[in-house]
Amino acid sequence: MRVLGIETSCDETAVAVVEDSTRVVADFVYSQTDHEQFGGIVPEVASRQQLRKITPLFRACKSQFPVSPETLDGIAVTSGPGLIGSLMVGLNFAKALAYGWGIPLLGINHLEGHIFANCLADPDLETPFLCLIVSGGHTLLVKVNEWGGYELLGATRDDAAGEAFDKVAKLLGLGYPGGHKIDKLASEGDPNFAKFPKAQFKSGDYEFSFSGLKTAVSLYLKERGEQFARQNLTHICASFQENVVEVLVDTTLRAARDHSLDTIAIGGGVAANSRLRAVFASRCGESGQRALFPEFKYCTDNAAMIASTGCFRLGRGERSDLSLKAVPYWPLGS
Ligand code: KG4
Ligand code: ZN
Repeated sequence: MRVLGIETSCDETAVAVVEDSTRVVADFVYSQTDHEQFGGIVPEVASRQQLRKITPLFRACKSQFPVSPETLDGIAVTSGPGLIGSLMVGLNFAKALAYGWGIPLLGINHLEGHIFANCLADPDLETPFLCLIVSGGHTLLVKVNEWGGYELLGATRDDAAGEAFDKVAKLLGLGYPGGHKIDKLASEGDPNFAKFPKAQFKSGDYEFSFSGLKTAVSLYLKERGEQFARQNLTHICASFQENVVEVLVDTTLRAARDHSLDTIAIGGGVAANSRLRAVFASRCGESGQRALFPEFKYCTDNAAMIASTGCFRLGRGERSDLSLKAVPYWPLGS
């Protein structure tokens, strides 16, 4: 099963070809940089850039692998959740190709793509396992009972983990998106320099909350002033990051224990965080559990994960027709 994947749900334009959910034969991603000046994503700018980039990316992909009706079993395209204008660009491109070439088309849930990114890391990954999805828009704990069969165990009540990184980066004057910048600065800082509060929930819950943490950092900076923030930037980054990492790891490992799951797969942009990877690896090493991370380029948005999901779903006969719509809100498993 060989599938062309197209991803345009937010500010990345991506095209890839994947075989049997596990082998990437072509892979191209363009990340928009236009939003930095606005301090966040401007949907109208994002969709216009998608429109500019989709054809050059498809051509680049074609030069690496001869995509055609003869070499492909179908086309998988992200149809939600995401920004409606951005989604529509990829969706219409995929529909035109599928119609022109007369090959199957399937709309894919972007969140399921982040789970399948782990198939690219470990082709032998077996269900059941626990998946933590941590991106700019989502923080979810999902029990993967079988491929395509998901049970939501917990989610964030407010900001997503990536959103918290981006908002704190903005408070620190690091620009947008700031997750990777905090990660880099934090590696030289003291994680015990400042203690920020952690949201507490009833035991047995696997919920998250990060908006209080963002407010706490904001107040902390206001009270101490700009010079203090500049002088202690690495320590503040490390203290904030440690708080997020501890909450994510503690809650995930508790859920894994409660559900007797030994394998924990992590997906989404925040899965690229070096401290999150290190803490998961060491805590799982101690407890005999296994933490699985996609390669860095398959943590953030990409089309290989969409093509990988497409191999699985097209392979079991699922199809979309040309009435396929872009859906901004699409909970996993619905
Ligand atoms: O999955 P993704 O590319 O897009 C969404 O579907 O949202 O995730 C983007 C998010 C951004 O919030 C970005 O700041 C965060 O992932 N991110 C990181 C790192 N790299 C990207 N957060 C923390 N540490 C990183 N190294
Ligand atoms: Zn994503």
